[in-house]
Amino acid sequence: MKSARPICEVLSSKYEGKTVTVRGWVYRKRSMKEKIFLVIRDSTDIVQVVINSDSKAWQAAQKITIESSCYVTGKARKDARAPTGYELDVTGLEIVGLAEVFPISRDVSTEFLMDVRHLAIRGRKMQATLKVRSKVFEAIHEFCRAQKFHETHSPFLVPGVAEEGLTMFKVDYYGTKAFLAQTWQLYAEAVLPALEKIYTIAPSFRAEKSRTTRHLTEYWHTEVEAAWYDLDKIIKFAEGLIAHVCQKVGKDCQHELKVLGRDPKVLLAIKAPFPRITYTQALKLLEKDGMKVRWGKDLRTLEERQLMNHYKKPLFVTHYPKEAMAFYKPRDPKDPKTASCFDMLCPELGVELMGGSERDPSIEELKKSLKSKGEKVKDYEFYFDTRRYGAMPHAGFGLGTDRLVQWLCKLEHIRDAIPFPRTPSRIRP
Ligand code: 4AD
Ligand code: MG
Repeated sequence: MKSARPICEVLSSKYEGKTVTVRGWVYRKRSMKEKIFLVIRDSTDIVQVVINSDSKAWQAAQKITIESSCYVTGKARKDARAPTGYELDVTGLEIVGLAEVFPISRDVSTEFLMDVRHLAIRGRKMQATLKVRSKVFEAIHEFCRAQKFHETHSPFLVPGVAEEGLTMFKVDYYGTKAFLAQTWQLYAEAVLPALEKIYTIAPSFRAEKSRTTRHLTEYWHTEVEAAWYDLDKIIKFAEGLIAHVCQKVGKDCQHELKVLGRDPKVLLAIKAPFPRITYTQALKLLEKDGMKVRWGKDLRTLEERQLMNHYKKPLFVTHYPKEAMAFYKPRDPKDPKTASCFDMLCPELGVELMGGSERDPSIEELKKSLKSKGEKVKDYEFYFDTRRYGAMPHAGFGLGTDRLVQWLCKLEHIRDAIPFPRTPSRIRP
């Protein structure tokens, strides 16, 4: 393969006056009588290149189309008018893959862009988002590993055990019914006596009908589970994790954040500890804002948004009403109407980023809760075994990784936080 320099490298005084070769895709083309300007994109940046009509590259430059792949050789020159400060005076242009007329132009609809997502993925904002996304995954792994957590995997095909049975996708499993997993948690709890501190980043599936800017039907779920952790300890881990991701993205992705119009300072200001309030305190705050919520009802997005108008950092809301919570969240012995649990709400976006809790040690309580939610208790026998054989206090949480990316990149819609989103109305491309 012919060698070439990454474009980001060429954009520096080090290469000024030198002849360099870059390779990439034609991002923009502007033709004049005696000059053709191309903007070339690779995975690192863009650079403007100029082809004069007397250059031997002129013919290729005339022929080349938007999104064609190519090698470009030219002499680097500083130019304040160029989009990234440097320009190449082209001496050679080799077309590798000549593109047909690219279907994406400025005035196409969002629906159309979703139809051609496999092409739209090359856009600069999308590119920047995907890099931030990659950094987020890196930072999560880094933090969890540094705290000596083991990465563990659970099945995606499950017999029915769930977070909330109503929103599971059904799969035909050799003639019997199986489902796509909504969470790794119940299996994770079974792994704790072997590994004690574990995490995963994996897809979770939710057959939710909600068409909102924060729901996907397939999303990437970061989940953490730890033996000998109580609510306070798991909250500290959770805020440490989010702060680490914010610091890492704020420092390492300055270029990408700029493309996205996001000030890195906002992310660099996110440091632990984060504020904590109880659900009951949250209701009081909301009431002051003129929003009355009956005690016992889970908070809706509307209310979460309103609450987050008061905060610049993520907020832990703890001790939600027990009856409104998933079956495994235990009663707080100090206030049995409530559960030892938390949601972490996200500033700016005003949505739930994380949900976590201690895990109920009592099989009787678990069964009662499952029955009240209409679940089939016998499907959970394996889960009860985790309580029968050497139960220990433990806690964990789940983080919507795509929502985290959405917030960090300041995106309107969660579908733009993931390369190929799955939503109720879309499974293609
Ligand atoms: O609150 P959830 O449903 O909690 C659980 O599944 C627990 N079993 C996690 C655990 O304790 N291990 O989901 C956790 C997070 C939510 O806070 C939200 O950020 C995200 O997952 N989430 C979604 N993200 C995108 N699209 C959806 N449809 C989501 N549903 C939940
Ligand atoms: Mg939740």
